[in-house]
Amino acid sequence: MTKSDLISSVALRSYWHVVAGADDVAPGPHPVRLLGDDYVLWRDQDGSLVAAPDRCPHREAPLSKGTVTDGCLSCPYHGWVFGAEGRCREVPSADDGVPVPPKAHLSTVRVEEAYGLVWVCPGEPGAPIPEMAVDGDPSFRRINTEVKIWHVASTRMVDNFLDISHFPFVHTGTFGGAQPPLVPPIELEDLDGGYHGYRYEVVAKNPEEAQITSGSSEAVVGRVMSTGFCLPLTVRSTVAYDTGLQHILLLVSTPIDEVTSYFTFVVWRNDDFDVPGDEVIEFDKAIGEEDRVMLERLSGELPMTQTGLVSVQADKASVEWRRRFAAMLEV
Ligand code: FES
Ligand SMILES: [Fe+2]
Repeated sequence: MTKSDLISSVALRSYWHVVAGADDVAPGPHPVRLLGDDYVLWRDQDGSLVAAPDRCPHREAPLSKGTVTDGCLSCPYHGWVFGAEGRCREVPSADDGVPVPPKAHLSTVRVEEAYGLVWVCPGEPGAPIPEMAVDGDPSFRRINTEVKIWHVASTRMVDNFLDISHFPFVHTGTFGGAQPPLVPPIELEDLDGGYHGYRYEVVAKNPEEAQITSGSSEAVVGRVMSTGFCLPLTVRSTVAYDTGLQHILLLVSTPIDEVTSYFTFVVWRNDDFDVPGDEVIEFDKAIGEEDRVMLERLSGELPMTQTGLVSVQADKASVEWRRRFAAMLEV
């Protein structure tokens, strides 16, 4: 299949993309797919991540079907062994004294660990990993959850994460039921940390399942929120409750290919740390599921031209994100 313009774009390759949770790669090999290309991840002897195309230089066997022993990855086909930085350390069929061919080393790609996630940049990084200043704040704890595969284009996910007008329709099973459908005028601004978006207040239903998350037992709670994006595909949502509790969400969407994406989210909270993290994010997971079910009904990539879709005032953030995203692809 020929890759779409978006999936083959050089611009997207110069950003960091989440491809796995940090715990998914211990010790590896762990296969991932990013922008239509397959990679293998594993941890070397020091525990440092290594990422390389999932194709052995010898006869192109998928390295992710091999095994990792003491930080070295063995190819499943003829047993070539690759160590730190993808260096080929051993060719079992050759005499010990024979040096390995120079091209036997893997062409690794950049890989970093941040916020409990594994980020890969297949090209020359043009921007750092999106900032989450709260990550270093000791009054907050970080809660991670699984990296899942959604059968929807990542562009449609970002469009959804920036949108609040779907709340009363899609999130009726969670927090959306108490919210009026009218969206007040959206004023876009530069938020902190390099995010661009808007601030707003919502009245959210606070059913029993939500009370661990909201820290309140009221039937309805007021939330001061902000939602913003950081190019290309990262969305951050912040929630501040009247009680002083803050709930900060990083929403990840990574293009596996045109119509498949990784999804995960990370939560930071300044709560009392008493309730187990898994329980705190149960509600967010249910919200994510509502989005997934809706989004998986949409087909193909989000049209990138402004004329390709009808938009209204409530779509302002998404329209601005799409404008900047499309301009970025042109670079
Ligand atoms: S294909 Fe990997 S060692 Fe031959
Ligand atoms: Fe949603």
